[in-house]
Amino acid sequence: MPTIGIDAIALAVPEGYVELAELAEARGVPPSKYVEGLGVSQMAVAQAHEDAVALAANAARRLFLQARIDPSNVGMVIAGSETAVDHSKPIAAYLHGILGLPSRCRSYETKHACFGGTAGLMTALDWIASGSARGRVALMMCTDVARYALKSAGEPTQGAGAVAMIVSENPRMLALEPGISGSYSRDVHDFWRPLYSKEAMVDGHYSVQCYLDALAGAYSAWSEASREAGYHRDSIVRRCYHVPYGKMAKKAHRHLMSIEGKTEEQADASYKEQVATSLKLPSQVGNIYTGSLYMALASLLEYEAADLEGKRIGLFSYGSGCTAEYFAGRVMPGAGLFVKQQKLAEPLAERRKYTIPEYEAIRGADYDVDRRPVEQLQVNGAVAFLGVENERRVYTA
Ligand code: COA
Repeated sequence: MPTIGIDAIALAVPEGYVELAELAEARGVPPSKYVEGLGVSQMAVAQAHEDAVALAANAARRLFLQARIDPSNVGMVIAGSETAVDHSKPIAAYLHGILGLPSRCRSYETKHACFGGTAGLMTALDWIASGSARGRVALMMCTDVARYALKSAGEPTQGAGAVAMIVSENPRMLALEPGISGSYSRDVHDFWRPLYSKEAMVDGHYSVQCYLDALAGAYSAWSEASREAGYHRDSIVRRCYHVPYGKMAKKAHRHLMSIEGKTEEQADASYKEQVATSLKLPSQVGNIYTGSLYMALASLLEYEAADLEGKRIGLFSYGSGCTAEYFAGRVMPGAGLFVKQQKLAEPLAERRKYTIPEYEAIRGADYDVDRRPVEQLQVNGAVAFLGVENERRVYTA
C-alpha cells in the first residue's frame, strides 16, 4: 500500500484576540486561574464576518498557496464543524464555490462535536487507501467558532479558527496508519448546543471525566491494534491531544501515563518532552473545537519537525457526546524543511488585541448575525461573510 497521510497544513485565525489575564480581571478572577489553571494565555475572538465558512476558506487559500496545491486535483472536500451556518447547505458547498474546486468532487460536512474533523480525516484516509481517489487529493477542513455564555465557567475556554489539511499519497508532513486506530463511543450529555442556541451548554467537570474515560477506551483499542501490527509500545515519542484548553492535555497525558503504569512524576517529566510543544499555538488561540487536535499537531511540527523526521507520534481526538479515536503517524523525511517553508504560525502574528469592552461588543452582535443585511467590508483580501441577501449568505469573492 502507498504511504498516505497529511501532506500539508495551514491555519486561519480571526483578526483579534483577548488576553485571558485581562478577561480574568474583568470577571474578578485571579489571572493565574486562567493562565496557569487552564493553561491558556490568549483567546481568539471571531467578528461577525469571520464565520466558520470564512475561516475555513482563508485557511484553504493559504494552504493552496503555501504548499503549492493545485485545486483542480481535489477530489473530495470535507468540512468538520460543530458551528455550521445552515441546517442543510454544508460549509463544504460554500468552500467548493469560493475555492473554485472541480465539479468532479465529493463535498459534505461532518459533525460530532470536536471529533467532526477526525471523522472526515479518517474517511479521506480510507478513500485514498481504497483506490477510489485515483491520484486525487482530499481537502480536509476543521472550522469552528467556540462560544460559551459570557461570565460562565466556559467563557475562558472559547476560541475560533480553522485548520486546512491536504490528505494524499506520499504526504510531505505526516504518514498515517490506515487500519490502526482505536475508537470509543458512549451516549453522554457532557457538552451540546441546542438548535436554538449560538452558545454551547456544558457540564464542564463531567466533560473532563468523559474525555478521560474516552481516552482510556480509545487508547486501549489502539494499543491492541498497534501491537498486532508489530509496533513496539515505546515507539511513540510525542503525543498530541484534543486541546479545549492546555491543562486538559496535561490531565490527559497524566491519565494515559497512569494507564502505562507510570507515576505522576514520570508523567509530568514526559509531558515536558512529549506534549508541551504541541500546546504553544493552542495556548494563543484557545479552543477551536474540530481543529484543536490539528492545531496542536501544527504546533508540534512548527517547532520540532526537523528533529522528529522518521519518528512516530500519537494523536487523540475527542468529541463530546461522545466519540473518540486514538491513532498515530510518522513524521516524513524532509518534513523539517517543508514545514519551515509553510510558516504555519504566521497567521497568529498578524492579529490585534481587543479590549474586554470590544470583545463584549463583538459577542453582543452575534445574535442577529445570520439575518444581517449585506454590507461592504474592508478585509484586505480575506474571505468574509458579508451578510444575507434574498435569504442567501453572501461572501466576498
Ligand atoms: N491559580 C492557579 N490555578 C488555579 C487558580 C489560581 N488562582 N484557581 C483555580 N486554579 C486551577 C484549579 O485548581 C483547576 O486546575 P485542576 O483542573 O488541575 O484542578 C483549574 O484552575 C480550573 O479550575 P476550576 O475550579 O476547575 O474551574 P471551573 O470550575 O471554573 O471550570 C472548566 C473549568 C474547564 C470545567 C470550564 O472552563 C468549562 O466548563 N470549560 C468548557 C468545557 C471543556 O472545555 N471541557 C473539556 C472537555 S471537552
